[in-house]
Amino acid sequence: MSFDRSIKIAPSILSADFANFGQEIRAIEEQGADWVHVDVMDGHFVPNLTFGPPAVKAFRPHVKTFMDVHLMIAPVDPYIEAYAEAGADMITAHVEAGPHIHRTIQAIKAQGVKAGVAVNPGTPLESIEHVLDLVDMVLIMTVNPGFGGQKFIHSGVEKTRRCREMIGDREIHIQIDGGVTTETAPLVAAAGADVLVAGSAVFKGGSVDQAQVYGDNIRAIRAAAEAAQ
Ligand code: DX5
Ligand code: ZN
Repeated sequence: MSFDRSIKIAPSILSADFANFGQEIRAIEEQGADWVHVDVMDGHFVPNLTFGPPAVKAFRPHVKTFMDVHLMIAPVDPYIEAYAEAGADMITAHVEAGPHIHRTIQAIKAQGVKAGVAVNPGTPLESIEHVLDLVDMVLIMTVNPGFGGQKFIHSGVEKTRRCREMIGDREIHIQIDGGVTTETAPLVAAAGADVLVAGSAVFKGGSVDQAQVYGDNIRAIRAAAEAAQ
């Protein structure tokens, strides 16, 4: 995939119907999703549990766009190979998840997939400064990870602006995750973000039988963000 900073909408299937992932993935892609965001939680790094590698492997054949796997697990290194083999196109690990983020990113790249590094709302950007040359994406959390449907934390806007400055002309995406809506998307897009994760704001009001609602939601977030970029 060639690099650009156009707005990409990455619906989080954490807000999908858990009994119907194949159809949900097809529905959001047909309705304009650019990436599919998969939230992996371990009940330890975050207080919730979601998808092991076999689940992610089962999603893979349904994803025609780009499978973006957000690992909220600690430790992370022992599981990187399994999630790569499950078919992730990008694996993002949290800087807070272990003492050796540099090694973790090297391990992700060694699997031949794209690598992202995530920072929680309370974590300074300085913690990732020295790995920026290794990564394809920085994920700025705008909620404390663990659950969908939380309120956007506004300090993420200034953090995004500073992250964009740190990146300079390097080909690194900035992804925002948590509380993205038509109200908050323009703030982070103006600050330099290009990949917007949205769970509740994409899936609200829709279903696989009412998939045009997903499309309306995706188009509204994209339009709000593009107008501000
Ligand atoms: C939070 C997850 C997010 C979350 C986003 O831990 O990483 O991807 O599902 O959900 P919304 O968009 O509802 O805040
Ligand atoms: Zn996520």
